[in-house]
Amino acid sequence: MPHAAKDFTHLKGALDGFSDKQLDAHFTLYGGYVAKLNEIEEKLKTADRSKANYTFNEFSELKRRECTAFNGTYLHQLYFENLSGKGGEPSDALKRMATAAFGSWDAYIADLKGSAGSTPGWVLTTKNRIDGSLHNYVMYEHHIGLPAHQEVVLALDCWEHAFFIDYGVKKADYLGAFLKNVNWTEVNKRLAALPA
Ligand SMILES: [Fe+2]
Repeated sequence: MPHAAKDFTHLKGALDGFSDKQLDAHFTLYGGYVAKLNEIEEKLKTADRSKANYTFNEFSELKRRECTAFNGTYLHQLYFENLSGKGGEPSDALKRMATAAFGSWDAYIADLKGSAGSTPGWVLTTKNRIDGSLHNYVMYEHHIGLPAHQEVVLALDCWEHAFFIDYGVKKADYLGAFLKNVNWTEVNKRLAALPA
């Protein structure tokens, strides 16, 4: 099934601390991942599976990059969807779970920031289906580092492309801007949709 990039241009001008130039560059990159996902899935239909090889083979390379393009597509979608500029408030259920997992809401935010400082890729706040608890996991690239059995509640893009135009090397300032613009209503909704 061909994947389609969603239109997030409504975020331009709506996010305090995110320039149109920064967002346009990010939307372009996002569109590139969607295009590559479609290209990989199309080529996989006919690539010769019989010569798969760890060192090099077309089918093998496509399989090795399939998840990069998939997560590059859908992590960006989750990221842009959990930004709105309108903020909202974390629900009582989200605060309760964050407090149970991290000790307090502020400790959760501190852990999120620390996790962001620890990766050039992604931080995902997830509900772990094994222990039923919230976790912050760091990912490299788009596909490396996420444990199994996770439901994504919040996606934070820590790739330099997400902030370098606006913040250069000041990643902490980007994190502050991100947190000012989180669409907690969307995060609350994701959490509420999960099994208890
Ligand atoms: Fe990104």
